[in-house]
Amino acid sequence: MQKRIVLGITGGVAAYKSAELTRLLVKAGHSVHVVMTEAATEFVTPATFQALSGNPVHTALWNSSVSNSMAHINLTREADLLLVAPASANFIAKVANGIADDLLTTLVAARTSPLAVAPAMNRQMWENPPNQRNVEQLKEDGALILGPASGSQACGEVGMGRMLEPGQLFEEVEAWFQPKLLAGKRVLITAGPTFERIDAVRGITNTSSGKMGFAIARAVAEAGATVTLVAGETALATPLACQRIDVKSAQEMLSAVQTHVAASDLFISVAAVADYYVLNQSEHKIKKDAHILTLELAPNPDILASVACAENPPFCVGFAAESENLLEYGEAKRKRKQLPLLVANLVQTAMGADDNEVILLDDDGQHRLPRAPKQEIARRLVAHIARLYPRWKEGR
Ligand code: CTP
Repeated sequence: MQKRIVLGITGGVAAYKSAELTRLLVKAGHSVHVVMTEAATEFVTPATFQALSGNPVHTALWNSSVSNSMAHINLTREADLLLVAPASANFIAKVANGIADDLLTTLVAARTSPLAVAPAMNRQMWENPPNQRNVEQLKEDGALILGPASGSQACGEVGMGRMLEPGQLFEEVEAWFQPKLLAGKRVLITAGPTFERIDAVRGITNTSSGKMGFAIARAVAEAGATVTLVAGETALATPLACQRIDVKSAQEMLSAVQTHVAASDLFISVAAVADYYVLNQSEHKIKKDAHILTLELAPNPDILASVACAENPPFCVGFAAESENLLEYGEAKRKRKQLPLLVANLVQTAMGADDNEVILLDDDGQHRLPRAPKQEIARRLVAHIARLYPRWKEGR
């Protein structure tokens, strides 16, 4: 979904981060047109943004080199989004009061596209009452305010006012563009591996990066749903706007799911739950000796089956990672666990990779989602769920 984005840059140290933001947006296929205020050019040169965006950078309101000297005003007329990052206190104050005295503020005033603003300023400037009033005014006028974050600042202070990181801004923009297919829905998702303790330092786990589950959590949140993400141990960052509950064992995952499932419209079970836990766990580290160590393993509860087979269940989506007979095993699993939808994939193609290809199994049959980045697969899965859900709900 390629979009046309006008990226406004105002004067602030965070302007250098917008170079990375430009790169991320361009890499995702969007066309980026950069507009810099005069102050912004003191921090980073237009040449940097020209090289990264592949488009001319606009800095002045009057341009005698084009026949219609106001042509660049049209920039935002064709844009899908006008994003200003970093947005200084001065810029925010001008926009809040309808002042249009340079190219960027004129574009804001004359735009037909939506406006998103990522403030970046010193802690005191952020908290300054006039600035707070101006930010409120922007919100009231329909602008999307992204951030700021708290942290150490260029001036040496620590506090609120840092611009969001380029990766976060990129995620926010991508999320904003997604259709709100699951608006108002509450979705519970499990992801990652579980870890079954043997002793104080050892355990049994499954191979699972958590990437697919986290990509789905992000896609579901992008689609406007409220997401609770129950995650086994992974090093992945929490997707924007998801409530995350960290767990280790299958038993802990089950408890977290039981706590939240009643308030959920959908349950998406992506976690690679260990099938067994260790009965003869040791509180202390087991010292090695010459003897054979025997572990007694007992089956873990099937979290998905317990939710799907309960009275009045949410819409349940299961996963099946198989190494052979994908469709046959997948469909058998779907029937056994009474799932309206199951996502089947081959372990060989999915594990740890950034890409995946899957087959969706539902009452209508099979639907192949060809190889794509996991985030893209997640978005297509969300679209499929959004098509099935109303029908399923109606039939209950
Ligand atoms: N699942 C679960 N709790 C378990 C085991 C699995 O919630 N204790 C969920 C997974 O999150 C996934 C689906 O069930 O959505 C996987 O089904 P399962 O039959 O457990 O897969 P395998 O363990 O691979 O089963 P098998 O060994 O029979 O292939």
